[in-house]
Amino acid sequence: MEHDSIKLMKEAAGKAAVDNMVKSGMKLGLGTGSTAIHAVRRVGELITQGALRDICAFATSFQTEIECEKLNIPYFSLNSKELSSGLDLTIDGADEVDPHNCLIKGGGGALLIEKIAAYASSEYVITVDESKLTQQLGTGFPVPIEVIPAARMQVTRVLEKIGANVILREAIKKAGPVITEHGNIILDVRFVLNGSQSEHINPSLMETELNQIPGVVENGFFCVKKPSVYIARSDGTVETRPAS
Ligand code: A5P
Repeated sequence: MEHDSIKLMKEAAGKAAVDNMVKSGMKLGLGTGSTAIHAVRRVGELITQGALRDICAFATSFQTEIECEKLNIPYFSLNSKELSSGLDLTIDGADEVDPHNCLIKGGGGALLIEKIAAYASSEYVITVDESKLTQQLGTGFPVPIEVIPAARMQVTRVLEKIGANVILREAIKKAGPVITEHGNIILDVRFVLNGSQSEHINPSLMETELNQIPGVVENGFFCVKKPSVYIARSDGTVETRPAS
């Protein structure tokens, strides 16, 4: 059960990002997870109040699609005529944020579409509570890697050779692994270099290199498309850290 104070921080970050950034007529990417859902709900609220009009949303997961349906937020495929020219803004959450606004994402298993949405957007905003801040990515949270099922052992072997601990993400209320919305599995990976967990990994380099392993579909380092970050603090304030 999520602690009330964490929930309030997630809500504050989502609300601040939507209130500052979302304008009528926008093509809007909507992220996934327990923080991004507060931004989705705020968009729904403003549409209901008539304060936001003509929003064309893109939902990054089934979770977000279902929330859009509940809230009457019109959502479309990225291939649709409404969104094929790209998105104005995407608002999402993250598992870790470092001082350069590099991220780990994919705790909710939606990293592939989340990365596509980030790249499709002119502006990219991440909403987090302060517990997500870290000096070095990968020290607290493992990096999720989406892999085609047939390559599970091969990719695991390659990762172990470069000093990784690899855990196949198991489903809850289903026997066996989590299967993503694209029919793939997720490996949660911690890098142990020189005996010290993740101390020296270079996330920007790793983002590119992990995708070179055949069978890897996408990885959860988000270092190329730099977001601005809304950080909710326990004192009730929300700090904005601009894209660097
Ligand atoms: C979904 O796949 C993720 O990238 C989420 O954005 C991330 O895991 C943050 O989730 P929470 O806001 O639930 O912590």
